[in-house]
Amino acid sequence: MSESNKAANLKFGETSLDLPMLSPTAGPDVIDIRKLYAEGRVFTFDPGFTSTASCKSKITFIDGIKGELLYRGYPIEQLAAKSHYLEVCYLLLYGELPSAQELEDFETRVTNHTMVHEQMTYFFRGFRRDAHPMAIMVGVVGAMSAFYPDSTDINDPMQREIASIRMVAKMPTIAAMAYKYSIGQPFVYPSNDLDYAANFLQMCFSVPAEDYEVNPILSRAMDRIFTLHADHEQNASTSTVRLAGSSGANPFACIASGVACLWGPAHGGANQAALEMLKEIGSVERIPEYIARAKDKSDPFRLMGFGHRVYKNFDPRATVMKQSADEVLDLLGIEDNETLKVAKELERIALEDEYFQQKKLFPNVDFYSGIILEAMGFPTSMFTPIFAVSRTVGWIAQWKEMIADPEQKIGRPRQLYIGAAKRDYIDVENR
Ligand code: CMC
Repeated sequence: MSESNKAANLKFGETSLDLPMLSPTAGPDVIDIRKLYAEGRVFTFDPGFTSTASCKSKITFIDGIKGELLYRGYPIEQLAAKSHYLEVCYLLLYGELPSAQELEDFETRVTNHTMVHEQMTYFFRGFRRDAHPMAIMVGVVGAMSAFYPDSTDINDPMQREIASIRMVAKMPTIAAMAYKYSIGQPFVYPSNDLDYAANFLQMCFSVPAEDYEVNPILSRAMDRIFTLHADHEQNASTSTVRLAGSSGANPFACIASGVACLWGPAHGGANQAALEMLKEIGSVERIPEYIARAKDKSDPFRLMGFGHRVYKNFDPRATVMKQSADEVLDLLGIEDNETLKVAKELERIALEDEYFQQKKLFPNVDFYSGIILEAMGFPTSMFTPIFAVSRTVGWIAQWKEMIADPEQKIGRPRQLYIGAAKRDYIDVENR
């Protein structure tokens, strides 16, 4: 990043301001408006932050026009094909691919933290059995600061590091416990001889009464889902984590705020909504009816798993996910999967439709992930918790970057006030 020789000149009324332009490593130039209010006494108005960079970051880059996603410079397709989730976690957290020894040490550190405080099991038992696993996750992740107060001092780099490892290690355990609780089965302890994805599957699907062997095809597919969701620069939940963290809140509280934000159907909740939509459509014959509804402005229905704020081209994660769905169903011997057929046909029809072409709406990561997760045996309610497990490392990497940033300030947006002007209180008898 450098301050370029260019400056933007802004004129309004009698005021003329030269605003510095910043040149990123990749992506469009950025006008630095930090002095705008101090020198010009005006704010900018940008609901949804469509044109506002909220921070500097070295972690993830998206080129939405090309449909490109890079973690620390490495294309997601290469990482999905050649790397694995814990290596990607290392990359996101520390900036470089690890040496063999660094990777081994990191994996050992994560593995040693997979168990949760035993007292947490009682905490789970306070929830209703029919609670959505995301409702449980929001509560339990927030409660981690009560169980691990020795890693909540954000000014101590060692505590920040321990909190990071704890969260990457314990999120799968917490998500699996939320699942087990919701189906009335006993919690399954982590098994440290398994890799990260295989361990998650065994915590979700094994029962004390039977032996359970993790299917390597499924654990590879699970690992790829984790990798594809690991980070996505300044999306809504990550920005929520950064905003919460900007006040100095402890890391567990910040990640809980990210989990809460992720739950919404416009964000991480879309994977559940997308599969439910595909099932509701049910057969290829009904697709035109749903396409028509998605285009009808008087109908709130949207094609879930379609469209993205940044991608105006194929979401590269969706391309990998689609291949993965084919592979997983094929390897599991699931032929004639009606949901996959509906998904592919819906994608084909939508991509040929003028409405979707004009608005540059393409399938996103959530369009195909649910098909894989369902084939693995997960109910739809677990899709968003799995997204939360995957994204935890991205949230933490971004939170750590923010804490270490000397330019970091508490996040505090301005507003365009459109309420009543100052007026005098009227006694109730006179209203
Ligand atoms: N179906 C039908 N129309 C759509 C869709 C859709 N899925 N997405 C956007 N549009 C239309 C929208 O109605 C608007 O039309 P107009 O300009 O006529 O008002 C136009 O496209 C632009 O949409 P927008 O809502 O202004 O765009 P946004 O950047 O604010 O929203 C989005 C992005 C992802 C929230 C939106 O595309 C959406 O709701 N998609 C469905 C939910 C979904 O799949 N979310 C997962 C996102 S990827 C994973 C993640 O990040 O969590």
